[in-house]
Amino acid sequence: MRIIVTKDYESMSKRAANMVAAALKEKPNLVLGLATGGTPIGMYQVLIELYKAGQVDFCQMTTFNLDEYCGLSPEHPQSYHYYMNHNLFSHINMKPKRINIPDGTSGNMEDECLRYEDAMQQAGGIDLQILGIGVNGHIGFNEPGAPFGGKTGVVELTESTIEANARFFESSEEVPRRAISMGIKSIMRARRIILLASGNNKAEAVFHAALGPVTPDLPASALQLHPDATMILDKEAAALFMEKYGDLEVTFSL
Ligand code: GLP
Repeated sequence: MRIIVTKDYESMSKRAANMVAAALKEKPNLVLGLATGGTPIGMYQVLIELYKAGQVDFCQMTTFNLDEYCGLSPEHPQSYHYYMNHNLFSHINMKPKRINIPDGTSGNMEDECLRYEDAMQQAGGIDLQILGIGVNGHIGFNEPGAPFGGKTGVVELTESTIEANARFFESSEEVPRRAISMGIKSIMRARRIILLASGNNKAEAVFHAALGPVTPDLPASALQLHPDATMILDKEAAALFMEKYGDLEVTFSL
């Protein structure tokens, strides 16, 4: 695993956006896996700036989002459909038919999960997957204990995730208890993975994910088994690595 430590949230976001832009230049019909939450918003903003400056073209790109809350329609302001439109898609030249996000309102969740998994295969698999990480080490909505062999499915959110995500809702009671999420296996099939983390509340999770035991108790630790995974961290998220390995602006491999 590669670890890139950047000085702050802005540098982390630029670094990640530049990596996405480079991948897109190399392969204009890139299949990009996308994450939500607070962390990737800065990266999306830089991508929008690059697009407006004529430096990237998204017209052939296909995207697959990691997850969606069950029961929230695409128009719901806290749905991940809404988030993606608001933070990225409505500002760039994505073709709507190439945007894929699980349907959290499907009448048949089992079919929806199979359909989503199949759509990823049909698109040729994900070239580059962007991930955030939960304070408990979750990726997508794969909470501690999720099997490494899991594909897209319906998952129950833990109390700690509900609490962490309550900041986007009026109250924690409004946070849906279930979500559709790509499974760890679906994520690990991506040819390349970039995980972003910012802030000291993520320091423990990223440190143990990279250096601790590989275990479903810490879902992000599965990335140790991936041949091309990179963490881009700001210095607060990298605090425990820096205690162990030294100064800022370093890139090292584990
Ligand atoms: C949610 C999402 C994850 C995301 C995590 C961290 O639970 N399902 O994909 O990585 O939150 O969010 P944040 O970046 O806001 O800390």
